[in-house]
Amino acid sequence: MGHHHLKHIAVILAAGKGTRFKSKKPKVIHKILGKPMIHYVSLAVRWSNPHKILYVIGHKKDEVKRAINCLDCVYVEQEEQLGTGHAVAQTKPYWENFDGIVMIVNGDLPLVEGETLKNAVKYMEALMKFEGAPIEGGEDYRNEKVAGVVITTKVPNPLGYGRIIKDKHHRIVRIVEEKDATFEEQQINEINTGIYLFYAPYLKEVIDKLQNNNAQKEYYLTDVITLLNQMGKEVYALLVPDYTQFIGVNDRWDLAKAENILRMKYLQFWSYAGTTFHNPESIYIEFDVELSPDVEVFHGVSLKGRTTVGEDTVIEEHCTLNNAKIGKNVKILKGSVIENSVIQDNAVIGPYARIRDNTVIGQEAQIGNFVEVKNSTVGEKTAAKHLSYIGDATVGKEVNIGAGTITCNYDGFQKHKTVIKDRAFIGSDTMLVAPITVGEEAITGSGSVITKDVPDKALAVERSEQRIIPNYAEKRKKRKKDG
Ligand code: UD1
Ligand code: CA
Repeated sequence: MGHHHLKHIAVILAAGKGTRFKSKKPKVIHKILGKPMIHYVSLAVRWSNPHKILYVIGHKKDEVKRAINCLDCVYVEQEEQLGTGHAVAQTKPYWENFDGIVMIVNGDLPLVEGETLKNAVKYMEALMKFEGAPIEGGEDYRNEKVAGVVITTKVPNPLGYGRIIKDKHHRIVRIVEEKDATFEEQQINEINTGIYLFYAPYLKEVIDKLQNNNAQKEYYLTDVITLLNQMGKEVYALLVPDYTQFIGVNDRWDLAKAENILRMKYLQFWSYAGTTFHNPESIYIEFDVELSPDVEVFHGVSLKGRTTVGEDTVIEEHCTLNNAKIGKNVKILKGSVIENSVIQDNAVIGPYARIRDNTVIGQEAQIGNFVEVKNSTVGEKTAAKHLSYIGDATVGKEVNIGAGTITCNYDGFQKHKTVIKDRAFIGSDTMLVAPITVGEEAITGSGSVITKDVPDKALAVERSEQRIIPNYAEKRKKRKKDG
């Protein structure tokens, strides 16, 4: 027999309502950096490489299931939320004949790291001496007294958490909930993180023996420790110093605190990967965002959804990017919004531009202040630098779109397409009434309302001739005086 590793089955508790959120939605699907809270717990658990993952769901279970979105996981229903012990009891059929560890993780711990869970498994194995060499006689040595490990941490303010009462060998004697604790017990600052590893055959013996004679009239999972002790078994505390990993998110302010911690972790990650952040405290970045080396991000920027940003790109103050694919060396100037769109290399966007809904801005194109582009393709080196609306348009290369140009794409019933071909010159304040095509190198006169297609290289002007009335100012004054 070689090395004998214990397998583990993970149980994630996600049946609760989250009363303190005061929400229509179940607690664990509230989002942190664009992903449901439960997503982060799932990631960490997966990292520990469990044999199987069970979710206990109950309150609005379909919504929770949809948010978890795991095909090879098992969902166990807890019809009534009678406590964490009762929740685990529902999963018993899945591990009662399992010779391994049941790892239980509260679903409201989005900051826990996968590595921490991995270490807990190793610690449990070491305590049970499963990894050691077989002793003489052939059998693996196993310390049959070891029944479990609870991850604990010391916090500045233990309010609301279960307190750890242990002996001097790090064996837990009891976990006492805030509401059941005496004044002396409330002074203890080592708390139950809500992460437990139990040896399945022992857990099986006690899980149905829990009582609810406590302040909250709930079946506490924490009471299995007392029951195991009564069987002569031992549960050890694994004290992890970094308490920020174990914020239990019980209300929306906890959610905000957890999100801030995670956000700073991700910014730090991208910073080490080569992005410069100015005033990172003010920058919001979601889970799926990907940045590149030599990207520079300024104050107040929001990076959301599946946004990716190429090398050497600069994103100035107060821009919002959502599902934006940004090329290399792009300049996104102050106050611009880009959604569901692609910006190719060397383009310049903004300040105060808005690019949305399946738009592609070509290489070296310039989209300037107060220009909105929607559902359009804009070719290489095309410039629309001031005060325009370009919607449902295909714009070629090296086109110049004068200030104030508008594609009139909507007739009150339907949207229509505008096509502007390569090197066309659209005079300032042109109204392009779609459907319409402006040919290659065609020109439109400033202030024209263009309703008919313009052939290649042609000029289209539509406005009345200018009249000059000499000395009109004097005449006007005189008229006023005479009444
Ligand atoms: C729990 C622990 C406490 C610990 C804290 C850590 C118990 C009795 N207390 O308290 O010692 O310090 O976590 O954050 O376990 N859930 C169910 N079904 C239920 C009840 C809860 O699935 O019937 C789920 C919840 O959805 C939640 C998790 O279990 O994800 C923890 O429940 P919660 O009510 O938040 O426990 P705490 O009071 O925080
Ligand atoms: Ca909690």
